[in-house]
Amino acid sequence: MADPFVLPPYPYDRLDVLKARASSVGGGLVDCSIGTPCDPMPEVVVWAMAQSADAGIGYPPSIGSLGLREAACGWMLRRLGVEVAPDQVTSCVGTKEAVASLPQYLRLRDRSRDTVLSPEVAYPTYAMGATLAGCRSVPVPVDAEWHLDLDRVSDEDAERALLLWINEPSNPTGSVASNEWYAKAVDWARRRGIIVASDECYAEFVADQPRSSALNAGTDGVLAVHSLSKRSNMAGMRVGFMAGDEGLIHYLGEVRKHAGLMIPGPIQAAAAVALADDDHVDEQLARYAERRALWIDWLDRSDLVHDGGPGTFYLWIRSRDETSAIPVRGVADEHIRAWELAARFAETGTLVAPGDLYGERQAHHVRVALVQPLERLSLALERMTTTLRR
Ligand SMILES: Cc1ncc(COP(=O)(O)O)c(C=O)c1O
Repeated sequence: MADPFVLPPYPYDRLDVLKARASSVGGGLVDCSIGTPCDPMPEVVVWAMAQSADAGIGYPPSIGSLGLREAACGWMLRRLGVEVAPDQVTSCVGTKEAVASLPQYLRLRDRSRDTVLSPEVAYPTYAMGATLAGCRSVPVPVDAEWHLDLDRVSDEDAERALLLWINEPSNPTGSVASNEWYAKAVDWARRRGIIVASDECYAEFVADQPRSSALNAGTDGVLAVHSLSKRSNMAGMRVGFMAGDEGLIHYLGEVRKHAGLMIPGPIQAAAAVALADDDHVDEQLARYAERRALWIDWLDRSDLVHDGGPGTFYLWIRSRDETSAIPVRGVADEHIRAWELAARFAETGTLVAPGDLYGERQAHHVRVALVQPLERLSLALERMTTTLRR
């Protein structure tokens, strides 16, 4: 009998020991390890949900109500300059579910290709989705600005590639791609018959530069993946959508109908209201930008540095005297620089995520999610000032 499939430990479960240590520090835990929002849901959204209880009586549409899909189209046009029709949109039960299942559904449609390309430093679910589909997951090297370096994909991997994941603004590095960059990446994939899935769930959390989307390069063979989790602090509501190539969206919508994947009706109604409102997102962006500025100012005076991009949701931090990506193989966690650094943070009550949770070569960085209120982040920095500079 073949070896049974064994899942690796869930990335954040590996933080349990550090979490216990950080929680025991006076003043309590400041948890910057997971990108889960802590700020309030917009009032208009709470109100819409309360008014929409009747939408919970019957089964909701798997692809999303017309109202939700129209609101998604309106939002993409307003905020990203992208024009798509409602039949080029299908909803998903939060985007993690879509990210994890997309390779499986696309592979059923095209058995001739078995490889999923994703950034070598990335949200781990891209690789897990490939594994769950029985596909090969191939990490794509990134350049000095943390963007995909597609010239370094081998011809064989490109020929076998079913799907290319892009994630800008990036989790964990905060890199932000321009529309020009997307155009080149999409062109590279189209010439090789590779579907592009562009995970844009942080699209609005960029300061001082234009928002962008892969769909500005056209919808042919491209899917953009969007979430209400971060945009509208609705992570617990589980609502997102995919938009782009009409044929692919139709196919995915049909799969989702058969699989019974549905967002509850009242949540669909609330998400439509959220997508029609930008004010709460601008307020949220200002919060992240303020928290980021506080940390950047502190880092400037420390022996640590953020060497990721300008995205406002995450900081990607390493010691100033380290180079950024050195492979560490077969070394116990506690000897990896990222874990040493995470342990130093934990000693002062702050939990951050070691870089190797986002790719095995990312052994020198830690990721900080700027999700805690300013006063908690200030406390974290005060407590670190004494210890980290030792
Ligand atoms: C890059 C990226 N994609 C997708 C997700 C999943 O978000 P959700 O399932 O809440 O829509 C996350 C969550 O942290 C993420 O960072």
